[in-house]
Amino acid sequence: MRLAREIAKHDKLYHDRDDPEISDADYDALVAENRALEAAFPHLVRDDSPSRKVGHTPSSPLSKVTHAQAMLSLDNAFSDEEVRDFVGRMRRFLSLGPDEPVVLTAEPKIDGLSCSLRYEDGRLVLAATRGDGSVGEDVTANARTISDVPQVLEDAPPVLEVRGEVYMAKDDFAALNARQEELGGKIFANPRNAAAGSFRQKDASVTAARPLRFFAHGWGEISAEPKPTQEAMVRWLEELGFPVADHFTRCETVEQALGVYETIGRERGALPYDIDGVVYKVDRLDWQHRLGQVARAPRWALAHKFPAEQAETTLEAIDIQVGRTGKLTPVGRLAPVGVGGVIVSNVTLHNRDEIDRLGLRVGDRVRIQRAGDVIPQVVENLTRDEKRAPYIFPDHCPECGSEAVAEESEVDVRCTGGLICPAQRFERLKHFVSRGAMDIDGLGAKSLEEFLALGWVEKPSDIFILRDHRDALLGREGWQEKSVDNLLAAIDARRGFDPGRFLFGLGIRHVGAVTAKDLMKAFTNVATLERVARSDDAIVQLSAVDGVGEVVAQAVVDFFHEEHNREEVARLLERAAPADYVSDVQDTAWSGKTIVFTGKLESVSRDEAKAQAERMGAKAAGSVSKKTDLLVAGPGAGSKLKKAQEMGVRTMTEEEWLAEVAKA
Ligand code: IVH
Repeated sequence: MRLAREIAKHDKLYHDRDDPEISDADYDALVAENRALEAAFPHLVRDDSPSRKVGHTPSSPLSKVTHAQAMLSLDNAFSDEEVRDFVGRMRRFLSLGPDEPVVLTAEPKIDGLSCSLRYEDGRLVLAATRGDGSVGEDVTANARTISDVPQVLEDAPPVLEVRGEVYMAKDDFAALNARQEELGGKIFANPRNAAAGSFRQKDASVTAARPLRFFAHGWGEISAEPKPTQEAMVRWLEELGFPVADHFTRCETVEQALGVYETIGRERGALPYDIDGVVYKVDRLDWQHRLGQVARAPRWALAHKFPAEQAETTLEAIDIQVGRTGKLTPVGRLAPVGVGGVIVSNVTLHNRDEIDRLGLRVGDRVRIQRAGDVIPQVVENLTRDEKRAPYIFPDHCPECGSEAVAEESEVDVRCTGGLICPAQRFERLKHFVSRGAMDIDGLGAKSLEEFLALGWVEKPSDIFILRDHRDALLGREGWQEKSVDNLLAAIDARRGFDPGRFLFGLGIRHVGAVTAKDLMKAFTNVATLERVARSDDAIVQLSAVDGVGEVVAQAVVDFFHEEHNREEVARLLERAAPADYVSDVQDTAWSGKTIVFTGKLESVSRDEAKAQAERMGAKAAGSVSKKTDLLVAGPGAGSKLKKAQEMGVRTMTEEEWLAEVAKA
């Protein structure tokens, strides 16, 4: 089901990468759509349906822990009606008379990540994230760094799991991002992502340096519940030393609870942390136990979400920003307007299609939305005036003037300026000198940044005339004769270098290290490749190369179509003079033969053995078949060796194989 896949994708972006693409409100809408479909067509509900999962199975390197008691999620409501229905359902379930009061607690739903803290005999022994609800991640060391989390409890029962939310306050988030920006570190989209990124760290000292907080909203396994109600339990947790969210309120009626929702909603912007709704819980614990849970959520609790915050304003201009990979992103400039307590003057317009979809023209009235703290976006164009000129998406990069093109079946328009586009400059340089490309020792990001700032290295070809700045460099802090000469020698060592790595270093879209090598194998050097790429039948000739498809062929053509790129390549060919491609495949007795390696090889790795075979003109295969000419079997070889022997395929030990390699 397409919807399920879509939800899974956003789950992964949100939970694993802490880097969501859509707002929480849009995500909720997807989940609601999925639920409606499933309600209409119950026979189509899949086992892996998002409705059967809580959160997301973790895929980070933290070790896993199984929760003693599952960590549940909450059902969402978006209207007062749904909240009244929730209470009605519970009444029916518990067979309560119409006059029997159903007392609820109401408290803010803090936008953080849930955490379970396990205390045994009053000592914190384990902290875990929710994960998929039954298996989470062990974050004990991380939790110990949070000052809101007590390490020891007085008068606690022998086993007590406190459940709550780890979060980052808005101020702390802003300060953290400012610091990250200075240090060139990751910028977080919102406090929730910052909290998650800071908390789920393998190295707890990173967590310790981040301003995380905790508030308690419930409990998991517990030796015995000391109090009879949710409210009394929460007050008890507070006495034990756990922070509890402001605005925690006991409500006699559902209408009173809805009033709390109103109040909290009004004060939302002024709260020191992000919240995305209000959580209601049945106060009586005996009722909570009777109500139990369905699939992923308790019957006795509900999250009443806030609508995404919206406002109307005028779109005053559309600017284009060029990202590090050359992507052109349209940004809407707005007449400043307040939305949920902040003034918004920019919105992301995502891409060309989004502008078309909304039919946006500069001067239009638009409705914008801020959901959580995701970058504000336009939800609706309120203008139907077609008289003004439509917005025309640029076909040239505003940074460097190169052509900007969208590949077929892609929505993103990209600058083809590659090597010369200032927006892409630094990333391109970094790629050019990187391990898999030119591998220039000692020319790391820091030095590149320094040389870029000095205007010495703006494009890859400048690297090969860095020597001109030798004296000036010697006068700079941190550079001694030895380090300068080592760097210059490392650069010199890359003159006459491998053409495949050189081509890969140019950073042509879709041309990875292997494709670059394939292209050089076919065309010997970059000058020839350029000639082919500029010929009339370029696509045909390029696509004829093994491993090169039409997308790659088109990308190569686009790259050489740009004069800037041709000029830079010419400078590079002159200054770095990469070698012609030489085949490293020898003509040996094994040329054309198929070889299988199995068992544990002792003096070479499996990969190296395969490379040896390929260099000797042979093909390395994974399984034994009629076509196999030789099986090299190390200790522990099993079924493959047996099969080869049965089929009469020649076999060898590793030692015998290495003797063959030496002979070749
Ligand atoms: S109660 C069994 N109360 O929201 C009930 N959850 O969308 C479990 N959350 O996993 C949760 N504030 O991480 C509860 N005041 C609050 C909350 C809260 C935030 C989170 C919690 C939960 C998620 C469900």
